[in-house]
Amino acid sequence: MAVDLLLGLQWGDEGKGKIVDVLTKDYDIIARFQGGPNAGHTLEFDGIKHVLHTIPSGIFHKNALNIVGNGVVIDPVIFKKELDNLAKFNLDFSAKLLISRKAHLILPTHRLLDAASETAKGKAKIGSTLKGIGPTYMDKTGRNGMRVGDLEFDDCKEKYRALANKHEAMLAYYGVAIEYNLQELENEFFEAVDTLKKLTFIDSEEFLFNAMQEGKKILAEGAQGSLLDIDFGTYPYVTSSNTTAAGACTGLGVAPNKIGGVFGIFKAYTTRVGSGPFPTELFDKDGETMGRVGNEFGATTGRPRRCGWLDLVALKYAVQVNGVTELMMMKADVLSGFETIKVCTAYKYKGETITHLPYNIETHNIEPIYKELKGWKKDLTQLNDVNDLPPNLNAYIDYLEKELKVPIKIVSVGPDRVQTIHR
Ligand code: GDP
Ligand code: IMO
Ligand code: MG
Repeated sequence: MAVDLLLGLQWGDEGKGKIVDVLTKDYDIIARFQGGPNAGHTLEFDGIKHVLHTIPSGIFHKNALNIVGNGVVIDPVIFKKELDNLAKFNLDFSAKLLISRKAHLILPTHRLLDAASETAKGKAKIGSTLKGIGPTYMDKTGRNGMRVGDLEFDDCKEKYRALANKHEAMLAYYGVAIEYNLQELENEFFEAVDTLKKLTFIDSEEFLFNAMQEGKKILAEGAQGSLLDIDFGTYPYVTSSNTTAAGACTGLGVAPNKIGGVFGIFKAYTTRVGSGPFPTELFDKDGETMGRVGNEFGATTGRPRRCGWLDLVALKYAVQVNGVTELMMMKADVLSGFETIKVCTAYKYKGETITHLPYNIETHNIEPIYKELKGWKKDLTQLNDVNDLPPNLNAYIDYLEKELKVPIKIVSVGPDRVQTIHR
């Protein structure tokens, strides 16, 4: 049995949470492989909206186990809040939610370091979610981090103290004013650690290997998007993990030859939250319409998302880096009403026309070249039959499939679970 893989192809917020929830009925296990509470994955069904940050998006299904893999970074405080928010749904977490011992912990001082680093950067800030992601992955690769498995040992508090002391010294280095009460933060942290310890800790690589032997169906859930990948994204305006397909192997302990389908999720247009280049970004009424109709506000920070037309150059790159086998197009409904739909097919870069992502994409040295397609007026949000899609939307889909050479298997026409059209 292979592990299917679902990931975002743009700058995050493509709708991964919704689609994982839609697909979970066909899987036994949903496993998050990277990122942390910088993610905000939204699910809607039965008139209720849920935003998950660390917990995998299969949690509402009785049939599925949910695993937080070793590649994820966990903030026990945010994790506890997520569990508390879900308490009213009577989900049996002790049986349904398993945590890798090798996942790293976000300490309160990691969050402080994130804030100090961003403040010190001034105008050049990354626009991080301030959840401590960068500093935690730095400690992981620097071989100083604290892992979930450390909580099972008696010297856990000493380990914590040594790391927190180091962080305090680093905070002084930044020389920026960050107000905090460490005692209060630590009390909150250790209370949340007690909650975390009530869950089952596993070695996810062993667990998933055995599950595969037993023929279980596994879906790996990505966070962020390919253009935020630490290696292949728009560095340095990226996150600190590998969001692309290879991240699922290292973030769960699954061998590359065990990866089956690679499902790539993209919005019918593009959004980005935080700083960094965005060639097709719009500052006109079309961008404003996308933001308003698409309700484009960050699920984690509430910040307005920057909006623009679909960037086919970037999307082709993401399809290539990930080896995408099936595409899923989200938020098609948001484009209803536009007279013309534009797609960026190339860039004008330093006077030349190019069709690849250059090493240093900077907004001032890149200009998108657009192809125009006819828009459609029809409201899509009530549709559930693929044959009812308007001809101009079908033409848009056909064009993208031809360019990307991968079939678009799902068209999403609204945030709810049921607003999903399979092709
Ligand atoms: P994720 O981080 O990839 O899981 O995506 P987010 O949850 O951060 O952002 C996607 C947003 O779009 C959420 O508010 C979803 O409820 C919403 N959404 C998902 N699919 C659709 C869709 O097809 N149409 C519309 N209008 N909204 C959608
Ligand atoms: P989901 O999983 C959109 C962005 C931040 C910032 C950069 C670095 O919901 O798609 P970080 O906190 O990781 O150090 O921030 O990455 N970012 C996201 N943007 N969706 C996300 O996750 C994101 N996670 C991080 O805005 O620009
Ligand atoms: Mg999100």
